[in-house]
Amino acid sequence: MKIVRSIEEMRAQLRGQNRTAFVPTMGNLHEGHLSLMRLARQHGDPVVASIFVNPLQFGPNEDFEKYPRTLEADIQKLQKENVYVLFAPTVHDMYPQPQEYRVHPPHTLGNMLEGEFRPGFFHGVCTVVMKLMSCVQPRVAVFGKKDYQQLMIVRQMCAQFALPIDVVGAETVRDVDGLALSSRNRYLSPAERAEAPGLYRLLNRIRDEVLGGQRDLKSIEFKAFRALAERGWVPDYVSIRKRSDLQPPGACASVDEPLVVTAAAKLGATRLIDNLEI
Ligand code: PAF
Repeated sequence: MKIVRSIEEMRAQLRGQNRTAFVPTMGNLHEGHLSLMRLARQHGDPVVASIFVNPLQFGPNEDFEKYPRTLEADIQKLQKENVYVLFAPTVHDMYPQPQEYRVHPPHTLGNMLEGEFRPGFFHGVCTVVMKLMSCVQPRVAVFGKKDYQQLMIVRQMCAQFALPIDVVGAETVRDVDGLALSSRNRYLSPAERAEAPGLYRLLNRIRDEVLGGQRDLKSIEFKAFRALAERGWVPDYVSIRKRSDLQPPGACASVDEPLVVTAAAKLGATRLIDNLEI
């Protein structure tokens, strides 16, 4: 595996390739990321990964400085997955000058759910993903469904900018007890780790209620929010949305409308997100 830092080297390594499958990450790789590499391999060749902790997508009170950086261990894992090139730029390689041109997702999609609680997050994500895509020029890019809203925003960004890139969504990888794998799980204390799968159990309960015919979605959301709070979580949202555009289904949505329930909540100092298609 070649490890490259600069955009120029990256371009040189991939010259002439037209079936590249790309997996952007922020590192601290776990089985969830490795499943993205495997899916990428099914969609293209060579597989290129990036590791870049992108300062533009962290708010002033978020964990940019303390975000886990484990490059050596990550390299070992990627080598085993036969990744061809790892692009691991420094902040200076990626943003040699302040990044003044940015990509702003539409208000309706970018400022709700995660965007409401992490203002500017999706501007940072879209800007770095656009720049990474411009460096790597993949034919396919793989993103995890765990970040459901991110996947949708990136997919629509590629469509609106007519980028010739298929954005593929990968299923969430979970621990045996249901907790979605995330780099942030390592911040959980043992007691919090024991409680954490409760979020996924709650999403399953919500799915069962909706599939069981309960149509008062607001009341389901409210009860779920309260249940989390009673167990010591600090929920940001528990929200049932249309899968097609992530808007609330509204009173006249058809019963067949494909839905997804999304949630974000803090357990101690750690903010977890998860979702489940209904
Ligand atoms: O999901 C992530 O890890 C990041 O948001 C991404 C897509 C690599 C952009 O920094």
